[in-house]
Amino acid sequence: MSQSASQNSPSRPARLRRSVLSVPAINRRALDKLSSLDCDAVIFDLEDSVSPDMKAEARENLRAFFSASPLPGKERIIRINALSSNFGAEDMALVAELEPDAVLLPKVDEPQDVMAVGDWLAEADAPESLRIWAMIETPRGVLNAAAIAEAGRTAGSRLDCFVVGLNDLRKETGVLPQSGRAYLVPWLMQVVLAVSAYGLEAIDSVFNDFRDADSFEAECEQGRAMGFAGKMLIHPNQIEPANRHFGPDAAAIAEAEAIIAAFTEPGSATLNVVNIDGRMVERLHLVQAERLVHKARQIEQRSSGAAASPRTEA
Ligand code: COA
Ligand code: MG
Repeated sequence: MSQSASQNSPSRPARLRRSVLSVPAINRRALDKLSSLDCDAVIFDLEDSVSPDMKAEARENLRAFFSASPLPGKERIIRINALSSNFGAEDMALVAELEPDAVLLPKVDEPQDVMAVGDWLAEADAPESLRIWAMIETPRGVLNAAAIAEAGRTAGSRLDCFVVGLNDLRKETGVLPQSGRAYLVPWLMQVVLAVSAYGLEAIDSVFNDFRDADSFEAECEQGRAMGFAGKMLIHPNQIEPANRHFGPDAAAIAEAEAIIAAFTEPGSATLNVVNIDGRMVERLHLVQAERLVHKARQIEQRSSGAAASPRTEA
């Protein structure tokens, strides 16, 4: 059964997903660095960054890593190879064994790709807390984004988040990498629209040139303005700018607190619009304001050393 965005909004996850760092599961040196990095989430990649003859070793690395390093306060996501590939079954067995926060499915084309993995996890008695993330990185994936997101509303689907993959999408379509991403913006917004309609979140694509700090800043600013919750990253030096751009700034927090205060004043319980310094604010802004303040608190708790649980919700 489908639900409208407004029905879903209050319960939409308010997890921090500003910086979602991908790490090749084969790279032990990079894995060892993770506990010292300030990213909100980690994608342990078994797919494209691991060559076919190293997949088994990469799985062993994750086994060792998960038993030694719980990474408190960070969401842990394992990106598997396609279920239909030679590696998919063993990757899924590892996911069931390690119980990360989510499994990330590559090249999701249609709802059935998500439903099949949901069925697999149910069959394996995986805990409900183990969610599904979907890479939207093929032409069919973009065209079907709304149908895939809607399928995520069905009972047992576990769908939680989309991650856009522009490297694959550019390869499939021939769109060239250009600053400003003019020809890609319509597709990116289609993904944002799809997740918004069905109460999910979307993470913007990686930016490959990790030494070009200025262009990365510009792309973070654009991704935030488009409505993405965060950015998938490939290198530690991308974490700080992503956290800054996708996190609420001081002015936004002050504004959100003013909105919450205005709606909690005695006498405003039955009001749907209030006047804040000459600007109309509607009750719908209250939900956004509460979500933003909740995220700000999570960031505050993290920087004061008390890591907030990634499963905490508004
Ligand atoms: N996660 C954690 N640590 C990382 C990292 C990552 N994604 N990328 C680099 N590092 C570490 C390196 O191990 C190195 O650590 P050290 O100082 O202890 O040696 C440090 O950060 C500096 O790295 P640098 O020398 O600048 O880059 P590199 O040559 O080691 O790595 C890449 C460059 C692109 C190969 C690497 O960043 C990478 O593999 N990124 C992820 C790729 C990926 O996941 N692709 C799939 C999704 S698109
Ligand atoms: Mg890909």
